[in-house]
Amino acid sequence: MHPRTTTERTTTDALVLGGGIIGLVTAWRAAQHGLRTAIVDPEPGGGAAQVAAGMLAAVTELHYGEQTLLALNIASAERYPAFAAELEEASGQEIGYRACGTLAVALDADDRAHLRELHALQRQSGLESEWLSGRECRRLEPMLAPGVRGGLRVDGDHQVDPRRLAKALVIACERAGVTFHRQWADRLTVVGDRARGAVLADGTELSADQVVLAGGSLSGKLAGVPAEVVPPVRPVKGQVLRLTVPPSYAPFLSRTVRAVVRGSDVYLVPRENGELVVGATSEELGWDTTVTAGGVYELLRDAHELLPGLTELPLTETRAGLRPASPDNAPLLGPTALPGLHLATGHYRNGVLLTPVTGDAMAHALTTGELPDAVRPFTPRRFSALEVLQEQTA
Ligand code: GLY
Repeated sequence: MHPRTTTERTTTDALVLGGGIIGLVTAWRAAQHGLRTAIVDPEPGGGAAQVAAGMLAAVTELHYGEQTLLALNIASAERYPAFAAELEEASGQEIGYRACGTLAVALDADDRAHLRELHALQRQSGLESEWLSGRECRRLEPMLAPGVRGGLRVDGDHQVDPRRLAKALVIACERAGVTFHRQWADRLTVVGDRARGAVLADGTELSADQVVLAGGSLSGKLAGVPAEVVPPVRPVKGQVLRLTVPPSYAPFLSRTVRAVVRGSDVYLVPRENGELVVGATSEELGWDTTVTAGGVYELLRDAHELLPGLTELPLTETRAGLRPASPDNAPLLGPTALPGLHLATGHYRNGVLLTPVTGDAMAHALTTGELPDAVRPFTPRRFSALEVLQEQTA
């Protein structure tokens, strides 16, 4: 039977479709700017934040060709201390922000060469990163394997607990007066040449002056979005493990430790409460979120090479999530070519890191119609065929 259609009398100023951390921070900041704001999501605070390790790895995850993204990542990392303090105050919840730093290590000659290149790129980019010998690495983290050949000490790459971050954002939104519609959005409503709201799974029609599509890896799937503004995002699966460090073992690790082993990233993120997060695979398998024996095996094998003592720890959780990847690995933020429709998606490996800057940028876009100057390179319009042609012929 077709669901009964009801239309909400009130029109919100901003309707956010998707209640992951990106949708939540957008709604929280929008409400703080005085906009009547609503979120549509069956499980606000769920999604990729329930899987992510929460590394704020602007420096250690630097890649060639991503200098523009680096500037945004650094800007967001710099906002984190104040953002965390403000969110904790607003929600009454701790979010596990920990200024612990990161050590990226190498296990063999190839890994070492790779790290040397990363170090050179970091220095060219004006970033703080110190080369350490294997012995110096082990002095910092005594549980590291004797075979560690060297590493990069990056004292500015910290961590936050994404699950606590998501919970705090839900509460902060509630306290700021954001309305929650706990169900799926079925389709975007477009009237004339403008986005005007959304129809929900139960047939409820919500109207809004502006709509923000913040559906993570699902952002490209919403019905009713005109083809020319459908966000080009795709899911990239990441399997992640959670282990527990018993109090008698502490301190097991004092900072995040990571490496590239046989070409794959592995990282270990120690929380103050004893949780040790080990991630992550990177798999292009559509919307599959199966935890596989192979994925768990490879993560444990690589993590064990870095920290042999790890196999003694209880394995408490295995999970897979989907990163919302874009064609250039950078987010899509702000107004689209369809009036009234904004995007906040495509954060790929940096959703947790980019949460503070995304909230600020989206609130600016929703209140002024434009992105802040520093965020303009991340306009969704960079993928529009016409804009690309104009750029090339300018
Ligand atoms: N930034 C870590 C990951 O995406 O696995």
